[in-house]
Amino acid sequence: MESNKTFTMIKPDAVANGHIGAILDKITSNGFKIVALKYTALSAEKAGEFYSVHKERPFYKDLVSFMSSGPIVAAILEKDNAIEDYRKLIGATDPSKAEPGTIRNLFAKSIDANAVHGSDSDENAAIEGNFFFSAFERF
Ligand code: CDP
Ligand code: MG
Repeated sequence: MESNKTFTMIKPDAVANGHIGAILDKITSNGFKIVALKYTALSAEKAGEFYSVHKERPFYKDLVSFMSSGPIVAAILEKDNAIEDYRKLIGATDPSKAEPGTIRNLFAKSIDANAVHGSDSDENAAIEGNFFFSAFERF
């Protein structure tokens, strides 16, 4: 299991608000290398599959509908200690609790529309990266 990779999405709110460029700049200027990158969209079915770990949670239905509401950017990122460092860079799930300067503090408006996804473990980073990217799409 690789411990130097994580997976991220720029969520529909941040894409719609014009923050793709600023978020990618935050990512690369904080030492993350982009291994794979894709501008795409999730159908409701695909969003449900991606977030299936949360299917018993009260916010699941709204989350699936939000994540399929518009295009997203998906990426695999590489850096030493990628999972932990990227979670630190994005900040708390609730942007009102995210540290100043974090991506969610800067670009997110609410706990559901919170600008970005970041993997929570090496195992999930591998599963999530494989969900979007083939071997031919990684550099
Ligand atoms: O994204 P993160 O790992 O920080 O949070 P999570 O607990 O794995 O939840 C996944 C996503 O569900 C969050 O990023 C939010 O978009 C959404 N969520 C929500 O809408 N309401 C909550 N109370 C918790 C999460
Ligand atoms: Mg999570």
